[in-house]
Amino acid sequence: MHPLLPLCVFWLLPVALTLDEDSLLDCVPRRSVPFERDNAHLFEEEGVFNYSTMLLREDLNLLVVGAREAIYALDLSDISKKLSSTKWEVTEEQRDDCENKGKDAEMDCKNYIRILHKTDDNKMYVCGTNAFDPECDYMSYENGQLTLEKKPEDGKGKCPFDPFQRYASIMLVNDLYSATSMNFLGSEPIVMRSSPVTIRTEFKTSWLNEPTFVAMTQMPESERSLKGDDDKVYLFFSETAVECDCYNKLTVSRVARVCKGDVGGQRTLQKKWTSFLKARLDCPVLEAQLPYIIQDTYRWCDPRSSWSDCLFYSVFTPQSDTSDLSAVCVYRVSDISRVFAEGKYKTPVTVETSFVKWVMYSGDVPDPRPGACINNEAREAGINQTLDLPDPTLQFIKLRPLMDQAVLPIGSKPLLVRRGAKFTRIIVNQVQAANGEKHRVMFVGTEEGTLVKAVNYNGEMFIIEEVQLFQQRVPIKILRFSNVTGHIYAGSDHGAAQVPLATCGRSSTCLDCVLARDPYCGWDTAAGKCSLLWASQSDLIQSVIDGDASLCPEAESVVPLSRSIWPGGNLQLLCSSPSNLAKTVWEKDGKALTAAGHVQFLLDGLLILNASESDAGRYRCQSVEHSKAGIYTTIVANYQVDIGPAGSVEGNEIMPQAQTNGPSLAGLQALIVVLSVSFLALLTWNFYKGHIPQPCYRRKMEQKDEQGGCNTTVAYNEAVRSAQTEEELLEPGRDNGTNRNHSSAEAASHVPEEDALKDFLPSLQFIDDESEI
Ligand SMILES: *[C@@H]1O[C@H](CO)[C@@H](O)[C@H](O)[C@H]1NC(C)=O
Ligand SMILES: *[C@@H]1O[C@H](CO)[C@@H](O)[C@H](O)[C@H]1NC(C)=O
Ligand SMILES: *[C@@H]1O[C@H](CO)[C@@H](O)[C@H](O)[C@H]1NC(C)=O
Repeated sequence: MHPLLPLCVFWLLPVALTLDEDSLLDCVPRRSVPFERDNAHLFEEEGVFNYSTMLLREDLNLLVVGAREAIYALDLSDISKKLSSTKWEVTEEQRDDCENKGKDAEMDCKNYIRILHKTDDNKMYVCGTNAFDPECDYMSYENGQLTLEKKPEDGKGKCPFDPFQRYASIMLVNDLYSATSMNFLGSEPIVMRSSPVTIRTEFKTSWLNEPTFVAMTQMPESERSLKGDDDKVYLFFSETAVECDCYNKLTVSRVARVCKGDVGGQRTLQKKWTSFLKARLDCPVLEAQLPYIIQDTYRWCDPRSSWSDCLFYSVFTPQSDTSDLSAVCVYRVSDISRVFAEGKYKTPVTVETSFVKWVMYSGDVPDPRPGACINNEAREAGINQTLDLPDPTLQFIKLRPLMDQAVLPIGSKPLLVRRGAKFTRIIVNQVQAANGEKHRVMFVGTEEGTLVKAVNYNGEMFIIEEVQLFQQRVPIKILRFSNVTGHIYAGSDHGAAQVPLATCGRSSTCLDCVLARDPYCGWDTAAGKCSLLWASQSDLIQSVIDGDASLCPEAESVVPLSRSIWPGGNLQLLCSSPSNLAKTVWEKDGKALTAAGHVQFLLDGLLILNASESDAGRYRCQSVEHSKAGIYTTIVANYQVDIGPAGSVEGNEIMPQAQTNGPSLAGLQALIVVLSVSFLALLTWNFYKGHIPQPCYRRKMEQKDEQGGCNTTVAYNEAVRSAQTEEELLEPGRDNGTNRNHSSAEAASHVPEEDALKDFLPSLQFIDDESEI
């Protein structure tokens, strides 16, 4: 992001607000919670960074955190309590070695803990990048002491060399499944199982093509399987598309899977996966736009139903930096496994001389089905393990691991689209609301250290709140949830944080508690506070779908505060609504107040400049919020303003200068002029340079959702603009400098070219048949 951009947004927000308050209802969280020490239990240690690996040890009441050169055992109930720690530093020799190979001594040549898993004997398996020479070790926690066993194992293929490279891993019955790159240059991607027989992927671009691995999870598909199916391991990643015949590289998101029982082939695919299948994973945010890139996936399963009802919640960000939208898409495991079990394959076809095109395979498929796990049918045919698989099946899959059909999310569209800080990680928790209905709440980490809490209520996206977890605006690198403590654990480069699923106490009134529509919270009339559902004995007032606050008791009246100013002085009256979706409305002596030259509305209050006698009176600030059930008005503040000489008013701040909390009128005016000029200059410059991804003014033109909730549709302007920009990116020969100055005639002359590009994108969706070539 451009360094001046935050400044622009910062100054534009108040402007946009005064121009049109409704404009900001587009996808804003209802409540924004700035950083505060008591938002979360925090853990950080001086001089230690990169708290990005976590292992929940609920059996030991521990959160084990891997950072740079250190591992911590923290109290799971309060992670600010460190119980034990151990260092794992690189030796001087290792560091010199790493530095001699051209790596940065301070950044790269350290040991970043990347893998932390529990082993069957209740110990732990740990791997670190170890100055670009990955190594693994066992670790135990006994008598309150974390101890590395110092029995190092080679970490190649398990843990990345490069601390900046993403990876994924999972441990199942002492078998480590890892997806990373296995050489110093980071150019040899591998998906591997380290077991007595190590099984891995082929080094072929059709298998893995410059991948970025993001998540791995398992699925117990053998459970009550009538077909005698095997358990599977799913892998989520993005890679350069082999199937795209475009000028430039195109990245696509993928889901791949392998069978747990796979031990490789006999001659073909010896010690390689015979069950590695992958498919494109789509999250269609905008039509005719570059595919969005997957960043993380959370497996959500209902403990009471079968694996086939499990869902994968994935976060996506755009392929190019020109858009600031992020999305969450949800996939059914059953949809994914159907594509693998029944779908067609893609096959490479050489057209003309050397150009390879990937098309749908329409020929005969050998039996057993390539890539399938060993099942009853295969066993009946005498194939008890993958070693028994016939050569045609193995040859087929070696050449064609990619499925023809893409996997689409539930509803063929995202569950959440939001503009702003990019999404990085996600976890999901299901809660039963007061009326017995179940809701799945998403907790999404962002690049700016915030946690976004959102629910989709029958198709309406609603962001309950966005909480700043870390003081620094650093990306959230890991999210974990413990169903034992009911807490969420987050890690960033600067520390770890622990938060409960809900902090109902942030609402101090019944109206705010109900309109927050947080399924974890309700208003306890007897106690007179907003309480957690399961912490309260009495019936709570809650209305998450409609936001119906009509049952709320009459609010207590707000005691008026007296304020007084000199004639000619300035006065600021504060009024901040608890909700970003509410409008604040000012009244003076019972009549609606409109902004006039010397009375100005601010985001969080009212400013009276150059006061005169007529400004005296009773001021009232109301917060007006719409919900499906109605319009609710709360009095937020009451003021009695008197104009008079200093000292005439009892007990209040009397100096007008002090009350304005700011510069004098002249000073203020000068400041405004300076700021406006610099802001306009900045804005002009930013527009000129094309640095503003979403022109702030454009917001006003975008349509907000009726309820003031979150739009899942994206503004037309944005759609068209990003599509265009990304098409430009696809076109190598086009000069962006001159492109900006096209006259309409010039633009028209480009039409055929652009059409050609548009044709290419849908071709990703509608795959040619092999016979068409
Ligand atoms: C580790 O943390 C430091 C400090 O914030 C950061 O500059 C660096 O990029 C991080 N390194 C990795 C590999 O994430
Ligand atoms: C497969 O297993 C069955 C029973 O376990 C056995 O009878 C059969 O001979 C095995 N087949 C092969 C090819 O090993
Ligand atoms: C927590 O989740 C695990 C599976 O991840 C499950 O076995 C266990 O029963 C759950 N515990 C509670 C208290 O819900």
